Amino acid sequence: MSDTVESASDSLPRHIAVVMDGNGRWANKRHLPRAAGHKAGVNATRTIVENAAKSKIQALTIFAFSSENWNRPESEVTALMTLFISTITAEVKKLDKKNVRVKFIGERERFSDKLQASINESELLTDKNTGMQLNIAANYGGRWDVVNACKSLISAVQENKITINDVDEKLLNSFISLSDLPEPDLFIRTGGEQRISNFLIWQLSYSELYFVDTLWPDFSTADFDNAISWYASRQRRFGKTGQQIKEEQVS
Ligand code: IPE
Ligand code: IPE
Ligand code: MG
Repeated sequence: MSDTVESASDSLPRHIAVVMDGNGRWANKRHLPRAAGHKAGVNATRTIVENAAKSKIQALTIFAFSSENWNRPESEVTALMTLFISTITAEVKKLDKKNVRVKFIGERERFSDKLQASINESELLTDKNTGMQLNIAANYGGRWDVVNACKSLISAVQENKITINDVDEKLLNSFISLSDLPEPDLFIRTGGEQRISNFLIWQLSYSELYFVDTLWPDFSTADFDNAISWYASRQRRFGKTGQQIKEEQVS
């Protein structure tokens, strides 16, 4: 956790998770190849990352490539991989200057050696940074994350480090991606679909879910601000009554 990110007020999300959806449709509307939509999406991503970092948000987690996206046409997957390498190379140095710490979640071993090298380098370069943490979900799937955590738990039992009776939500959570951060307070999905698409299924249990029709390349600072304002208007109850929450707020 960062020391230099000021403690956020209750109305500001500490952690935002974003499904950046709609690049393909953005390109189709313009009679452009889908890859042009992904390229345009990078500009929107840069703007949102900068805004989040400026707003003193502790962590931003973006869905860049799902474990299911391998099922797309080979030409699109190749275009995305090339774009990832060029984007990481061009952007991470700038993010480092802005004190942003970059982390990747997902099964990186499936990527090419070149892409894995740029992922590892960007994490190393920004590891000591104390500003916002940017988590990039790449070849990530929520179910993979849970299975992976279960495997780690089973290994710990086999190695006699823990017993089955020690297994509870807290222990399982400690093996899940991003367990060192607060869970996402706010989930944003652009592009009009109202689904999680196997993103952070465990971590989103109590997130406020915000869906917007805007296609990702069109998602602007104003759209981001709207999502933050919407979040501020939510009453989070975590199973309690609205009355209890109001009483806790005055005390
Ligand atoms: C999201 O945009 C980007 C990735 C999945 C990599 P899409 O490519 O899914 O765009 P649509 O949903 O087809 O418009
Ligand atoms: C989710 O979007 C994955 C990313 C944004 C990287 P998809 O476009 O792949 O999701 P589905 O297939 O419409 O559910
Ligand atoms: Mg999509």
